[in-house]
Amino acid sequence: MKLTIIGTGYVGLVTGTCFAEVGHHVVCVDSDAAKVKVLQGGGIPIYEPGLAELVQKNVAAGRLSFTASTTEGVERSDVIFIAVPTPPQPDGSVDMSFIERVAREIAGAMTDYKIIVDKSTVPVRTGDKVAETIKRYCKAKVEFDVVSNPEFLREGFAVEDLMKPDRIVVGVRAPRPVAAMKQVYEPFNAPIIITDINSAELIKHASNSFLALKISYINAVSVLCEATGANVQEVATGMGLDERIGRRFLNAGIGFGGSCFPKDLSAFIKISEQSGYDFRLLKEVQHINAEQMERFVKKITETLWVLKGKTIGVLGLTFKQNTDDVRSSPAIDLCQRLLKEGATLRVHDPKGMDKARAVLLDVTYVEDMNEVAAGCDALVVATEWDEFKQLDLERARKALTHPIMFDGRNLFEAQEMEKLGWIYKSIGR
Ligand code: UDX
Repeated sequence: MKLTIIGTGYVGLVTGTCFAEVGHHVVCVDSDAAKVKVLQGGGIPIYEPGLAELVQKNVAAGRLSFTASTTEGVERSDVIFIAVPTPPQPDGSVDMSFIERVAREIAGAMTDYKIIVDKSTVPVRTGDKVAETIKRYCKAKVEFDVVSNPEFLREGFAVEDLMKPDRIVVGVRAPRPVAAMKQVYEPFNAPIIITDINSAELIKHASNSFLALKISYINAVSVLCEATGANVQEVATGMGLDERIGRRFLNAGIGFGGSCFPKDLSAFIKISEQSGYDFRLLKEVQHINAEQMERFVKKITETLWVLKGKTIGVLGLTFKQNTDDVRSSPAIDLCQRLLKEGATLRVHDPKGMDKARAVLLDVTYVEDMNEVAAGCDALVVATEWDEFKQLDLERARKALTHPIMFDGRNLFEAQEMEKLGWIYKSIGR
């Protein structure tokens, strides 16, 4: 099929590439001409495992191309996906201006029937607004259908999630676009659920909020574990073996971050408020997440007492492993809090240092994780990178003035660490 994706951010670029990989002919549109040039020249503006190879392969096969022209994108395909950002506004609501502008642009370029698919995460009822906008701005007065098709990919696992999705959600107002949507997704061999548009839009916010809730739940349990001498990892494993609960997203830590969970939670709370419901449960999810960070900082200050004049090594800057993304990263938040307390920081991240440099100033960036501990008073693990498990613990222990580690992601085994001579403090253990 011929498909157009508007917006080449995480969702748009990975979706377009995976569509091409299964045999569709895809054109990716972005209004940022400089970004399009980078993509046309074989560059990839984000780090995502496996993506660069897939882009190169599909460009070479003639199935994937890039343009800055929405008109070209609209002319070349019958199915047009919108994958532009929906950033948060200060009051927690969603900025819909990118979607609205793209809807107008698509409308202006349409000369025959099109299916316009919204992939961006949007408040419920956006489909109706997009349809109204297209109707109003389409001079050619051609027929069209609006579809909601939320994306559930995780950064760092985006290609894998896209190629092997748990489910495909397709929200429609009328049956006409269903056959085409099934054809788009047939090669992915995943269950496709067809709903009305409002339900599809709600599925996305409800799913992300539920996952955030799951993390806050285990973080709250971790507080109880610390108070009673239990081990949160054992509790999570015991809970997770119940198939109704499941072990995933039950890792206690310094809280969730990233460009989705915090934003989607705020948006869902706001949407609920506008619909007349006070979603207090989700407000508590936010509180628990904020407290988890406070508690971790307190753990550090209670152990090291005064941070002024102390040097702390921080492993991890991205909001989670396998990404270079530092947006709303708990690790960056932690660094900023430690700096505010007067600490000097030596930091390292396997992929996130370039992006961190723009937001985290006045710290020393260390290229080799094994060099971070040199001259430090303590070491902190802030992101769950698997690489950190390979840290040369003996070298780090000797390099520190005191062998203290605050593990905000429970990467190491407490008993092992103590056996190796560490003063080891983690979460809920
Ligand atoms: C999330 C959703 O998982 C995805 O389906 C949606 O489309 C976009 O939002 P993403 O933000 O890429 O994806 O990352 P995710 O892997 O969900 O992690 C989010 C945050 O939760 C990270 O900060 C991570 O460290 C934290 N987390 C995750 C935990 O603290 N504990 C866990 O058990 C899992």
